[in-house]
Amino acid sequence: MVEIKNLTKYYGSHPAVLDISFTVGDHEVLGFLGPNGAGKSTTMNMITGCLPATSGTVLVDGYDIAKDPMEVKRRIGYLPELPPVYPDMRVRDYLNFAAGLKRVPRGERKKQVEDAMERLKITDVQRRIIGNLSKGYRQRVGFAMALLGSPKFLILDEPTVGLDPTQVIEVRHLIQDLSRDHTIIFSTHILAEVTAVCERVVIINKGQIRAVDTIANIEASVSGDLRLKMKVEGEIMKVTNIIKGTQGVQEIEEVEYDSVGVNSFTVRVASDDVRKPLMSALLAEDCMVLEIASEKASLEEAFVKLTAPTAKQSSAEAFEALGREMDAAREAEEAAAAEESRSDADAAGEPKKTEQAAESAGAPAQKSGRGKQKKGGKH
Ligand SMILES: Nc1ncnc2c1ncn2[C@@H]1O[C@H](COP(=O)(O)OP(=O)(O)OP(=O)(O)O)[C@@H](O)[C@H]1O
Ligand SMILES: [Mg+2]
Repeated sequence: MVEIKNLTKYYGSHPAVLDISFTVGDHEVLGFLGPNGAGKSTTMNMITGCLPATSGTVLVDGYDIAKDPMEVKRRIGYLPELPPVYPDMRVRDYLNFAAGLKRVPRGERKKQVEDAMERLKITDVQRRIIGNLSKGYRQRVGFAMALLGSPKFLILDEPTVGLDPTQVIEVRHLIQDLSRDHTIIFSTHILAEVTAVCERVVIINKGQIRAVDTIANIEASVSGDLRLKMKVEGEIMKVTNIIKGTQGVQEIEEVEYDSVGVNSFTVRVASDDVRKPLMSALLAEDCMVLEIASEKASLEEAFVKLTAPTAKQSSAEAFEALGREMDAAREAEEAAAAEESRSDADAAGEPKKTEQAAESAGAPAQKSGRGKQKKGGKH
């Protein structure tokens, strides 16, 4: 079991990973999903002991990476983002050398290296210089190295990067195959990958966890209500009334003219079960249902929703900031005007004071005009 508790990493003042916690059970394949710069590699480097955490703990089978790094490293096979392969060595020699570093007993090295090469389909290139291999093959050599020593846990950072589509499918099958004997955490930003090989995912964005759940639950949590897409032949008002009158139908969201006498409807419903009564009701009134399909939110939609601020949010934030800027400008203007009238009354103006009053109100006096224009422009 891998337990990650309140793990945090700051690069200078930048929080690359902020207070993340999750656990990975034995024999589980966990997808670590996030866009570029989310903090996936940083987290994996901390789990494997390649990077010290700023705070928080990583326990692997109960061993703390900070206190027992050797015990943890013995249990982990790591394929980092850039596999640390020696370009001048031949594939087989390199894997033999790596097996030695991983303390694989001499008597077992040959077999382990051969098994790993076979699993990654690199036996044919075993005598080639690593530096002359294609990127995809170098990735496979790094993967083979991660398998040496039969580690219980495999941490794979974007294992399919640089592979062609056929190889990607092969690696997916390999991960499925390896999951019988290993606990696997693998990172990716390719959604098809997680759906294909794992049941549970962690979604991370800007160093923070957005979701830890099964793919089904994550999809359900963002899907809200279910929609039916239907194509129905019949008079539009008649069809609309029948749909509206069917129990379980919540709303007709969209009606589109398709071809003569055929219209497409997007209908929000309580559950998939509404399809049967809906079809019966329409057929009873001689309206032909040409197509009916339910539409659930996909993991893709969930990913976008969980990792990207919505346009609504960003414009609301921008508008709030603009409001703050305008308030400060208005206060500065008022303060400047008050000071000016006082100076006029005294018949001895001191321009310095005007500037000071404006600045102390939160914004330089000359900026007030710009704030106004912006808000005017937005409206
Ligand atoms: N050595 C470093 N020094 C400073 N900042 C870093 C360093 N390494 C990573 N970062 C920053 O930390 C954040 C997380 O980076 P990280 O590489 O962990 O993301 P990632 O999810 O693996 O992204 P990708 O999908 O592109 O591989 C990013 O903002 C990145 O710029
Ligand atoms: Mg990365």
